[in-house]
This record gives sequence, C-alpha cells and structure tokens, in this order.
Amino acid sequence: MSKLITLHEFIVSRQKDFPFATGELSRLLSDIAFASKIVSNDVRKAGLVDHILGAQGGQNIQGEEQQKLDVVADNAFINAFRNGGEVCGIASEENDDFVAFESQAAQNANYVVLFDPLDGSSNIDVNVSIGTIFSIYRRVSAQGSRATLADMLQAGTQQVAAGYVLYGSSTILVYTTGNGVNGFTLDPAIGEFFLSHPDMQMPENGRLYSVNEGNLNDFDPQLRAYLAYCQSNDNQTGKPYSGRYIGSLVADFHRNLIKGGIYIYPCVPAAPEGRLRLLYECNPLAFIAEQAGGVATNGKTRILEIEPSALHQRVGLYIGSKLMVEKAMGLH
Ligand code: AHG
Ligand code: MN
Ligand code: MN
Repeated sequence: MSKLITLHEFIVSRQKDFPFATGELSRLLSDIAFASKIVSNDVRKAGLVDHILGAQGGQNIQGEEQQKLDVVADNAFINAFRNGGEVCGIASEENDDFVAFESQAAQNANYVVLFDPLDGSSNIDVNVSIGTIFSIYRRVSAQGSRATLADMLQAGTQQVAAGYVLYGSSTILVYTTGNGVNGFTLDPAIGEFFLSHPDMQMPENGRLYSVNEGNLNDFDPQLRAYLAYCQSNDNQTGKPYSGRYIGSLVADFHRNLIKGGIYIYPCVPAAPEGRLRLLYECNPLAFIAEQAGGVATNGKTRILEIEPSALHQRVGLYIGSKLMVEKAMGLH
C-alpha cells in the first residue's frame, strides 16, 4: 500500500513553494482544518443533541433566519482564528460587521479570512450535505495595527488561498494556494485528513446543470435558451443533460468539479444583485474553479476581477466546466 499523506504533511511539503514563507499560512490552514473537525463532529451528531438542529431564533444582517449550526460553526472558526494568532481580522456571512482581533499578536499577523461558516443552511435539518467556504488574503493595512475594512474588500485575484470543507457522505477539505487544487478526506476514527484527491481538474465539458428552475420565469432569454439547450437532444452528447440541484452551493460545486457541470444563480427580481455572496462564496469557489481549469463569471465580468464595495455584496454566478460556462454566455 502506498503511504498515506496527511493534510499536515502536505501543507508543510508545499511551504517551500513560497520563497519567503514563514509558516504562518501553513499554521492558518491547519487552524481551518482543526475548526472544520469540530464542526464535522457537531454535524454528525445533529438530531441527537439539542444545540445543533433547528433555528437559532434570530436573523443575520441579510435577513436570513439563522440556524443553530450556523452559529456553532461561526464560533468554532472564529475561536480557531482568534487563538491561532495568524489572522488580524475576519469577516463572516453570519456577522454584521468584520471583526478586528484586539490582541497584539493578532495585530502583528499578516492575514485576514473571509468565510461562510455553514453553506446550505436550509439542508441542515434534513440530513443533506452542507459545508464551510473560506478565502484568505494578505492584509493591506499596516502590520501592528487593527484590521480595516480595506483588508476585507479586496478583489478575488488577491486571494492567497481558498477552499471549502464539505460535510457530505464523508467530510472532505479542498483547497488551493494558487498552485493547483487538492482534496483531503477526513478519517473520523483518528481525526486526520488524508490526501484523497490530488491535483483536481474540472472536466472541460460536462452534462450536469445546477440551477433553481423554480425561478425559470424570471430568467433572461439567453439563460432560458441555454437551459432549453441543456434539455434538448441536440447538445454535444445527443441526449438531455441531467439537472442536479442540491441547494448547497458547496455540494453542487464539488460534484460539478469532479464530474463536470455548471452551476448558475443569476440575478432575478427576488434577488436583483444575485443570491450568492461575492466575498464568502463566489470568490473562493471561483479561485478553486480556475485553478482546476474551470471558469467563473457573473455573466459579464470574471468573478475574481470584481472590485468589492461592501462586505455582504451579492453577485450573479455562472461557475463550472469551461465549455459549459462559455456556452451559457453565448460564446459558442
Ligand atoms: P447559505 O445557506 O450560506 O445562506 O447559502 C445558501 C445558498 C447556496 O448554498 C444555495 O445554492 C442557494 O443559497 C440556494 O438558494 P435557493 O434556495 O434560492 O435556490
Ligand atoms: Mn452560503
Ligand atoms: Mn451560510
């Protein structure tokens, strides 16, 4: 049997790819893995213990009902970042404002993390896959001071690393530091992530499309024409594509990353700016998609080049296999 490579061994072996690496980013990635194990453990107990399933009894700043697990996951990650000492501040989908950590060690740190602690909240109570999505940037404010809003509002092209953890039939952590995409599956018996999906590549084409078709009447003519193409026999495969929509972006994205497919959440009247958050969902997944050979756009602009103007900014999203996204954009 070939030797299993742990996430920690992999992170350390890749540190030399960064000429002046101090180990800070490596420790930060390890903090994320640690927090994700806590959340994974809680997810696996959902239904058995009272503090995990159900509504929290409040709303986040975006007017969405918070689930208990949204808050559990948010706290697990924030505590890991606060205690880790590599992060000067964070922004999370579940917090109204960004958080600048107060300690001197934190103010001396170089990184900020932006994250969706629990993606797919509506699936928690029904045992369907959910996940965490994260994005890491170098601060732009001076080291030794408090983190600022400008540290958080950076274009996706500035990401140093990004990834997600999918709490699915197994728990898998997928990340990139701009040098390819690798996936690690958690062995829950020993609490260790092992490299299971080295150098992930998104197929250039596919036959899965993921969209909330309940909104079909609100889609623009070009998107409706593309969906009709997906459903017809005159696409490249000679038979209709398969519709697959979990309602957890992270799970839909992961499946399409492996099998080839496209995920679409356009701007619609009910969500005129789009449904998904640029900083916590679209940028990190766009970075991974591009690193794996895929494409991510809002329909006009490459997602990674959008200059953010607000923390909880939403955008339309077309992400997935290169040829499918180009076709949806009317390029073929
Ligand atoms: P979140 O649970 O973090 O609020 O994100 C939910 C997102 C995304 O995961 C999913 O694809 C989409 O919202 C589903 O929206 P619809 O229910 O409108 O299809
Ligand atoms: Mn989400
Ligand atoms: Mn969320």
